[in-house]
Amino acid sequence: MRIDILTLFPQMFEAPFRVGIFQRAIDRNLVRLNLHNIRDHTHDKHRTVDDYPYSGGPGMVLKPEPIFETVESIKSEIHHEDETGDLSIILLTPQGRLFSQQIARELSRHDHLILICGHYEGVDERVREHLVTDEISIGDYVLTGGEFPAMVVTDAVVRLLPGVLGSEASPLDESHANGLLEYPQYTRPKVFRGWPVPEVLLSGNHAQIARWRREQVIRRTLQRRPDLLDKTNLDPTEKQLVERLTSSPKKTRLNLDKESIK
Ligand code: ADE
Repeated sequence: MRIDILTLFPQMFEAPFRVGIFQRAIDRNLVRLNLHNIRDHTHDKHRTVDDYPYSGGPGMVLKPEPIFETVESIKSEIHHEDETGDLSIILLTPQGRLFSQQIARELSRHDHLILICGHYEGVDERVREHLVTDEISIGDYVLTGGEFPAMVVTDAVVRLLPGVLGSEASPLDESHANGLLEYPQYTRPKVFRGWPVPEVLLSGNHAQIARWRREQVIRRTLQRRPDLLDKTNLDPTEKQLVERLTSSPKKTRLNLDKESIK
């Protein structure tokens, strides 16, 4: 996969992508990451990237020309047979669709992503209307720019690319992969400061462990993100468990996690 990021602050991306799994993915050519300074595509002496909004209002607006020209220079480097098919041009903005694991999965199927980091009070509307193919928000809060959102999206997408996580880790079991939260994990020591690892995990009984984990997934999701359960297909036993956990008035949300499983 190729990812091009358009930003006013390319230096912000230097450290995050030079470590661990990400660096390994770059070294192994599983992903190619290019940073583009939007300012390099200005033509005036002051290298102006923003201007006042027409008819007033607070703040400055990013001008369309440098953004269009940067994207066009990227496009001229590549010759997609079907450009709209596998190239997605994404504006990071609080007005975009809310990012999720499902969207990360969807983006990971593209060959090429262009991420545009917005700044200041906004971006000239013609960028939205005539250049980008998608708009993404990473949450209902406002950041100073699209750089951190671009890092979040890039990280979430790249780790899903085949070969990136290697055989030691699987993205299938983790939180949100199947629409629910992940079960609790433990490692050595068996007892830490008097807190033991649940007995079942030491039993070696794989069927029992699988059942325990599935039940923990449901308890945990019910406790922390009940909205996710509504969107998931549960089997009849799982539905019964949810009913049992939600019907008893004495059970507080905190107790849901701790109650022993019958
Ligand atoms: N730019 C500023 N805030 C943002 C957000 N929440 N998501 C994406 N881009 C942004």
